[in-house]
Amino acid sequence: TDHVTLDVGFVNTASCKSEITFIDGDAGILRYRGYPIDQLAGKVSFLEVSYLLIYGELPTQQQLDHFSDRVRNHTLLHEEMRRFFDGFPRDAHPMPVLSSAVSALSTFYQDNLNPFDKEQVDLSTVRLLAKVPTIASYAYKKSIGQPLLYPDNSLGYVENFLRMTFGVPTTPYEVDPVVARVLDMLFVLHADHEQNCSTSTVRLVGSSQANLFASVSAGVNALFGPLHGGANQSVLEMLEAIHASGDDVDAFVRKVKNRESGIKLMGFGHRVYKNYDPRAAIVKKAAQEVLGRMANPDPLLDIAMRLEEVALSDEYFVSRKLYPNVDFYTGLIYKAMGFPTKMFTVLFALGRLPGWIAQWREMIEDPDTKIGRPRQVYVGQPERSFVPIEQR
Ligand code: CMC
Repeated sequence: TDHVTLDVGFVNTASCKSEITFIDGDAGILRYRGYPIDQLAGKVSFLEVSYLLIYGELPTQQQLDHFSDRVRNHTLLHEEMRRFFDGFPRDAHPMPVLSSAVSALSTFYQDNLNPFDKEQVDLSTVRLLAKVPTIASYAYKKSIGQPLLYPDNSLGYVENFLRMTFGVPTTPYEVDPVVARVLDMLFVLHADHEQNCSTSTVRLVGSSQANLFASVSAGVNALFGPLHGGANQSVLEMLEAIHASGDDVDAFVRKVKNRESGIKLMGFGHRVYKNYDPRAAIVKKAAQEVLGRMANPDPLLDIAMRLEEVALSDEYFVSRKLYPNVDFYTGLIYKAMGFPTKMFTVLFALGRLPGWIAQWREMIEDPDTKIGRPRQVYVGQPERSFVPIEQR
């Protein structure tokens, strides 16, 4: 194994070539298919950006209408699948429910799983985009004991998700246009981020020629971890803990710096960005807008802004180039919209879905793709002789 290079955490190793997303971490730049994120956020819809990521170009109005219609046609879950949600404990975290349900899609569409059949892959693409919001809202409805609502295909993508999540059959649901607009924009900001942990997982699983549902389900599980998508939940829990202990931001930052029991400032730091995460800048503005219009502004926003201020002027964070990342302010917005903390990472998954799909498709279509199979540096026992159990 002399020729093997050790690169724990793949800090320097590229696993593929990709045309989808460009990041310059030192400059704080993020582009989808060449378009800077700040030019897209707030100007394109989530389905439009999904189209861009998956097919490589921004759609014409006609292409977008056609794509949206196809997605709309697949929002229903198979009726049998509604029962699926009964099997989980009431207090189940919705992320493993989501990954299980996405995995189970392979059992309902057994004839459409050939990774090399472009039409089948495109159908699976549309099915995933259409059904994941339905699944996500069902996981939530189960946890609060409310009936599952069927999708309403007269509504837009995000509006439909909001209605299935917060609506009840007894009362017409009024979508708040500000909530719908901001949530759509947050999905756009999450839509792809090149070879992050969950996307690399999707590609790695797919490199064995596992189908798209199986690969995306693995991505959902990778996203669940607190160092990745789970960070948005952890940030809110951190802010609540600081609030409960008397709002002492400085004391908390001291604990982080002293590395007391491994505490980190959640929502800070990034493997690639050594500058302000361009998504975080946009999210921060949205947080101020959404929380600013509330009658009783959430005291956690003030704690977050003070935390950021203290951290950005502190030598520990400055020297390590730790800046707020996308997860730092999103949780506050989700909370203001009425989502429980447990749903935050599910919202990340909804946003990241087109990126996973686009990356999986690029991987499958790339003639240079090989099965992902990292090497290792063995540091265990040298050869030794077997000892029978009675002599040990
Ligand atoms: N709080 C305190 N110290 C930190 C933090 C933090 N949030 N992040 C990194 N550091 C320190 C780290 O201890 C190390 O210090 P030293 O060199 O003295 O040992 C130094 O900064 C470099 O960090 P690293 O752990 O080598 O960096 P990494 O690239 O391996 O990890 C990270 C990146 C995002 C996992 C990490 O910054 C982290 O754990 N942040 C908190 C969790 C979080 O917010 N995750 C969301 C990431 S962005 C979107 C997403 O993927 O979901």
